[in-house]
Amino acid sequence: MVLDGKMFRRVMSHFASGVTIVTTRCKGKPYGLTVNAFSSVSLEPPLVLVCIDKRAISHAKIIESGEFAVNILSRDQEDISDLFARPGLRQKFDNVQYDERKTGSPILDGAIGYLECRLKSVYTEGDHSVIVGKVVSLAVGGKADPLVFYQGRYCNVDLRMATIPQFSDTSETHLLYNYWSESFGW
Ligand SMILES: Cc1cc2nc3c(=O)[nH]c(=O)nc-3n(C[C@H](O)[C@H](O)[C@H](O)COP(=O)(O)O)c2cc1C
Repeated sequence: MVLDGKMFRRVMSHFASGVTIVTTRCKGKPYGLTVNAFSSVSLEPPLVLVCIDKRAISHAKIIESGEFAVNILSRDQEDISDLFARPGLRQKFDNVQYDERKTGSPILDGAIGYLECRLKSVYTEGDHSVIVGKVVSLAVGGKADPLVFYQGRYCNVDLRMATIPQFSDTSETHLLYNYWSESFGW
């Protein structure tokens, strides 16, 4: 079966995600791009992954520097998301406020959370690389709603409508949920 690329994108766009900016510092210069292909991988040790297009400038820079940070965007940061999604743009950081913590990768002002990582593994698959990092420092920012990406658009979530998953007390899922919520401080 020959898979239609448009259909693949369309179906994937129905998976709502948060939006992050993945940054790095290479030879003293900051680099970064907008990424929604971000996931946690392991709790012990703490690992996360991002999938990055091999053609992105930031791809080579992350691999060269061996470090990166994942900045989780708030719903006020649509502009920054658009800015960092512009391929090949050199001056992405000119008008953006950021800070440095442990690795030197930019931590953007206004992000609702960040994770700084040391590169652990790179798996090249098709036109992207799955970049796995070990988390070395992390924090949550102020209270703000997340930026959400769905069907190629930014959207808001109404957190007043948020519900906690309901599991029976004895189910393994419930125990797992408790474990997660304690570990992650939900
Ligand atoms: C909402 C959104 C999510 C994106 N997610 C990814 C992603 O997960 N991986 C990726 O390689 N590019 C993603 N992109 C595209 C990159 O941000 C874009 O190609 C970027 O300009 C590359 O920057 P660079 O070449 O300066 O490194 C996304 C763009 C948008 C708008």
